[in-house]
Amino acid sequence: MQDYVTLTYRGESFQLPVIVGSENERAIDILRLRKETGFITYDPGYANSGACMSSITYMNGEQGILRYRGIPVEELAEKSTFKETAYLLINGQLPKADELRNFSIMLNDHSLVHEDMKAFYQNFPRASHPMGILSAMVNALRSFYPELQTTEEEINFTVTRLLAKVRTMAAMSYKISRGHTLVYPRPDLAYCENFLNMMFDTPVRPYQLTKEVVRALEVFWILHADHEQNCSTTAVRVVGSGRVNLYAAISAGMSALWGPLHGGANQAVVEMLTAIHQDGGNFRGAVARAKDRNDPFRLMGFGHRVYKTYDPRARIMKRVCDDLLAALNLKDPLLDIAKELEEVALKDPYFIDHNLYPNVDFYSGIVLRAIGIPTNMFTVMFAIGRLPGWISQWKESMDDPHWRISRPRQIYTGPNETHYVPMQDRT
Ligand code: SDX
Repeated sequence: MQDYVTLTYRGESFQLPVIVGSENERAIDILRLRKETGFITYDPGYANSGACMSSITYMNGEQGILRYRGIPVEELAEKSTFKETAYLLINGQLPKADELRNFSIMLNDHSLVHEDMKAFYQNFPRASHPMGILSAMVNALRSFYPELQTTEEEINFTVTRLLAKVRTMAAMSYKISRGHTLVYPRPDLAYCENFLNMMFDTPVRPYQLTKEVVRALEVFWILHADHEQNCSTTAVRVVGSGRVNLYAAISAGMSALWGPLHGGANQAVVEMLTAIHQDGGNFRGAVARAKDRNDPFRLMGFGHRVYKTYDPRARIMKRVCDDLLAALNLKDPLLDIAKELEEVALKDPYFIDHNLYPNVDFYSGIVLRAIGIPTNMFTVMFAIGRLPGWISQWKESMDDPHWRISRPRQIYTGPNETHYVPMQDRT
């Protein structure tokens, strides 16, 4: 039985249908609002607006729940691989053995990039940020691979090709920025191992893969794989709604992720912790600044638009941090500072009142440091992890019968009608 809410304005009432999701979330369907009432809604930052219906990822911010296609992220982090999780997000179910084998073969076969792309990489200024290079080069893929993306088979081929190449492209930007010789993907290495080898292998010192580092990277990417309608996913959906090719839509998502309030936060967290370390470990000063409304400083890695409790990914990432540093027999002073910062903040009334808890970015940078990833590549690592999520959301939007070109309305607050003033009459 259809449920309704009633909107009453100056004695006139309008009935608006209620939509209920599979986890009993409710929404007011305003598809016909402007046509029937003349009203629009106003919601800067879209904190109260649902842009779509989606069956990919479920988050419950109050309870700290995150599930990909119904499976809790905790179970995937413990039992799955990034490749398998990517397949789950994009195809909607875990792969059978033959499906995973075919997926692996395709990821391997398409892991090289066109040799002509090297010239582009070599002509970026050496100090270019790897996120600017990656988003530009993903967009450039269209020029090298102009095949159509219309049939299901063409789309799946393009999707797998992008997943295969993104690691190679990321490692290329790192090697070229260091003036190192490129390392090519190897057919005998799986997804994560190949990336690590392309990043750190050198002709004079072969890279030694360790199972602890590989597992830490798998879990890192699993935890980042999707997060429903976040800023960068919204960018992918909005740009994709113009029916542009996949590469351009993903490139837009990468640009959105780069911001320090979003995926750039993992780099900003390590820069913040480093500054605290250099300031003699004065984390209490950082907490005081974060609480000062006159100070733009924020505790990076804390707070979230949806989670009003501990980000479930941060809890897992903290454990990965401890396990990896112990396995590598590493001590990182930034981890000690992060833990002290968390302990003080979680007891502070300001953070409690504002529901500010560590998010995925708070510990992730320390994991990446332990792996040996340079700080300016932290957001690239986030982007590689989020790629399956962006792709799955893009595909879902392309198949959504309700999905139209994104074109929000506005409330105009500018001048009422006025007229052109000739130069000689301007005062
Ligand atoms: C990601 O959306 C996603 O799902 C994103 C993500 C994903 O996987 O895709 O989870 C990844 O982007 C995680 C977030 C990474 N960003 C950071 O860690 C940057 C620091 N955090 C923030 O700037 C902030 O918390 C946001 C951007 C994450 C959320 O911002 P909102 O929801 O717009 O909240 P807000 O900025 O309006 O803040 C509400 C209040 C304000 O105080 P009042 O003016 O109401 O008194 O909380 C305060 C803010 O000042 N506040 C903080 C704070 N975050 C919010 N105060 C100090 N330190 C902080 N980190």
